[in-house]
Amino acid sequence: MKRKKSLEFILRPAREGDVNAILEITLRAWKGFTVWERYEERYGKICNITWEEKKKNEIMQMCKNLDNVIVAESAGKVIGYASFYDVAFKTGEIGSNAVDPEFQGMGVGTALIERMIEIFKEKGLYLVRVSTLEDDIPARRVYEKNGFEKIVKSVHYAQVLSGFKRSV
Ligand SMILES: CC(C)(COP(=O)(O)OP(=O)(O)OC[C@H]1O[C@@H](n2cnc3c(N)ncnc32)[C@H](O)[C@@H]1OP(=O)(O)O)[C@@H](O)C(=O)NCCC(=O)NCCS
Repeated sequence: MKRKKSLEFILRPAREGDVNAILEITLRAWKGFTVWERYEERYGKICNITWEEKKKNEIMQMCKNLDNVIVAESAGKVIGYASFYDVAFKTGEIGSNAVDPEFQGMGVGTALIERMIEIFKEKGLYLVRVSTLEDDIPARRVYEKNGFEKIVKSVHYAQVLSGFKRSV
């Protein structure tokens, strides 16, 4: 993919007033890249709720602790976000991250991941990990470009149980 025009943006800690923008980006950015959508393709809607709403719900949980979220802002508008967590044993994890599709391919995702790595270094951690779907090529490119190495492929299994009725 060719890089689009360059873009001026800043990275900063997320604040309460960013949550709506984060949720809007979520609804627009994640098409094709969530496990919830894969379930929906296979089984139909679970609990009659779309994968977009399920992902939004997950991101609302993430926004309950904005100390672990940074945003990218351009011309006063939030255009991307990334979240991070300390797990055990001096290991940090990069959580959900996304860039508004209108601003993808301009280095914003890369800058967010670079900043996450800096944050983990500042915390004195030893290892940073992240996982994504095998066919999420843009995310994999961003991680590999930032020095992440592929460790292992995992397989995601599911089965619906007897109480589940497929929606049409
Ligand atoms: C992953 C994501 C955050 C990247 O954001 P971004 O701002 O576009 O990232 P960048 O511009 O820094 O880099 C994207 C890279 O992917 C490459 N890329 C994008 N689409 C591609 C494709 N179909 N094939 C090959 N490379 C591709 C771009 O060329 C670029 O690499 P380059 O800098 O070497 O040219 C964004 O695509 C997104 O929001 N995806 C949906 C949510 C998601 O999957 N999040 C990550 C999983 S947790």
